[in-house]
Amino acid sequence: GKEKLRFDGRVAVVTGAGAGLGREYALLLGSRGAKVVVNDLGGSPKGEGASQRAADVVVDEIRKSGGQAVADYNSVIDGAKVIETAIKAYGRVDILINNAGILRDRSIIKTSEQDWNLVHDVHLKASFNCTQAAFPHMKAQNFGRIIMTSSNSGIFGNFGQANYSAAKMGLVGLANTVAIEGQKNNIHCNVIIPTAASRMTEGIMPEMLFNELKPNLIAPVVVYMCHESCEDNGSYIESAAGWATKVHMVRGKGAVLRPSLQETVTLENVQNAWNKVTDMSKTTHLNTIAEASGTLLEVLEKLNSNGDGGATDAVVEDDF
Ligand code: NAI
Repeated sequence: GKEKLRFDGRVAVVTGAGAGLGREYALLLGSRGAKVVVNDLGGSPKGEGASQRAADVVVDEIRKSGGQAVADYNSVIDGAKVIETAIKAYGRVDILINNAGILRDRSIIKTSEQDWNLVHDVHLKASFNCTQAAFPHMKAQNFGRIIMTSSNSGIFGNFGQANYSAAKMGLVGLANTVAIEGQKNNIHCNVIIPTAASRMTEGIMPEMLFNELKPNLIAPVVVYMCHESCEDNGSYIESAAGWATKVHMVRGKGAVLRPSLQETVTLENVQNAWNKVTDMSKTTHLNTIAEASGTLLEVLEKLNSNGDGGATDAVVEDDF
C-alpha cells in the first residue's frame, strides 16, 4: 500500500487544543511526526477563567506516545504570542489550525455588547491575529497550511447564535482572502465545518447522535488538509460522523431587470422578475471575483445589444 502520511520536520500550532476537536488534531499531528504547539487558555465554555491544565494534559499525552509538543497558555486573541511560542520552541511554523472557540448563546434582543465582542474576538479576530503572525514565516519558507473553523450555525443560522453565526461566516470570508494572498507562496487556507460531540454541543444534541459524532472522526480530514500533498486552497469541507464533503456557494441564473441600457430599473420590473431572480433550479459555482464581474459584463453587453426598440417587457432574455 501507500506510505503513511507523515509530518516530520513540520511545526503545527493548534489553537484550543486542550479539548474536543483541537485535542484530536493535536494528537494525530503528534503521532505523525509533527512538533505540536498545544494552545489552550483553559477557560469555561463561555470564555471565563483560565487554567494551564487543559494544554498540559494534551502535551503529556503526545509526549507519552513518543511525540513532540509544547504547551501555550495564551488566549488566541494574542495571536502574536501564540505564534511566538512556536518560533521560540521550534524555530518555525508550518501549520496553523484556528480552532479555539467559545459560545455565548442569547436571543438577539438579549445579546449584550460583551457577548457579541468576546465571541467575535475569540473566533474571528483571533483567527486573523494568529494567521497574520504566522504568515511572514510561512511566506519566507514557501509553505503553509492554515485551517479556519466555520459552522453550520453560520451557514444556515441557528436560534440564539447571532454573535457566533456572524463570526463563523466571517471566518469563511477571511479564509477566501487568505487563500488568495497565500497561493503564490504555497500557503493554503481551507475551512472545516465540523459537527462533533464536545462540551460545546453536550446537551443540545440527541444522545444517539451525540455518541456517533466523535471528534476523532473529523481529525483525519482536517489533518489531511494540513499535509503538503493536499492541494486544495480555499475549499470549505464539511465533516462529521465519518463522512466529509466539499461545500459550495452557488449563484442562480438571474434575470435582467430592464429592457435596455437607456432605461432604468423600476420597482415593478423587480416584482415581475422576482420568480426568475429567486429561481435556483439552474445554479453555477463561481471560483473568483473576476468570474463574478465577468457575468456583469455579459449583462451589459446584452443590454447594449438590445438598444432602442429592445424588449419592452420588464424581463428580457436572461440566457447568459
Ligand atoms: P471545545 O469547547 O471542546 O474546545 C474548544 C477549546 O478552545 C477549549 O479547550 C477551550 O479552552 C479553548 N479556548 C476557548 N477560548 C480560548 C482562547 N481565547 N484561547 C485559547 N483557547 C481557547 O469545543 P469544540 O466542539 O471542540 O470546538 C472546536 C471548534 O469547532 C470551535 O471553533 C467551534 O466553534 C467549532 N465548531 C464545533 C462544532 C461542534 O459540533 N462541536 C460545530 C461547528 C463548529
